Amino acid sequence: MRGKFITFEGCEGSGKSTILRLIVEKLKEEGIRFILSREPGGTKIGEEIRSVILDKANTEMDPVTEALLYAASRRQHVQELIIPTLNKGISVLSDRYVDSSLAYQGGARGLGIELIAKINEPATEGVKPDLTVLFDINPEEGLKRIAQNASREVNRLDLEALDFHKKVRKAFLDIAKSSDHFAIIDASKPIDEVFEAAYKIVHKTLTE
Ligand code: TYD
Repeated sequence: MRGKFITFEGCEGSGKSTILRLIVEKLKEEGIRFILSREPGGTKIGEEIRSVILDKANTEMDPVTEALLYAASRRQHVQELIIPTLNKGISVLSDRYVDSSLAYQGGARGLGIELIAKINEPATEGVKPDLTVLFDINPEEGLKRIAQNASREVNRLDLEALDFHKKVRKAFLDIAKSSDHFAIIDASKPIDEVFEAAYKIVHKTLTE
């Protein structure tokens, strides 16, 4: 049987990384077989592309270049890791996938969902998640959380970024509404509740 493909999406401060770590620990305890991966990255080439995209020194990066680099990393990920792993009957959990491009580059950066979907056609080659878990949080709360973690006040840059993150959230919610494989989790709840809700649906998908 083909493995299951599950992706995790969310805005900054949604707790995605923490919850994902807890999910991975519990799945391992239960002896469920899977591979955890991430985007951008997931392969040697993808990780090299990741460092180009996320390098703070690359301030002159054109938005379409950025979108193409995310898609290039994704293409390599799909071909080298996702398809072969699923074909072996092993499930893949990916920290972000194409919906991040649709929401960040398409929605927030303003390139439009259509262009991003087109760019990503050769990247995904129709490989769709069986389940996408969206950790949803109001960006004001998300950024507050980040600031609390860093034990500092929300600064000017965080506030400037607020509008961008609001657009990311709206795009994610719009995509989720028109899709049949999204589970929206209220990430403003206490961490144990968010974890329980996410784990339940991930476990169900992996074992059905
Ligand atoms: P990362 O440090 O992994 O952030 P997070 O913990 O929030 O997932 O960096 C990934 C960043 O790249 C994150 O800000 C979202 C962004 N991103 C896009 O803009 N488009 C994409 O297609 C992907 C996969 C990520």
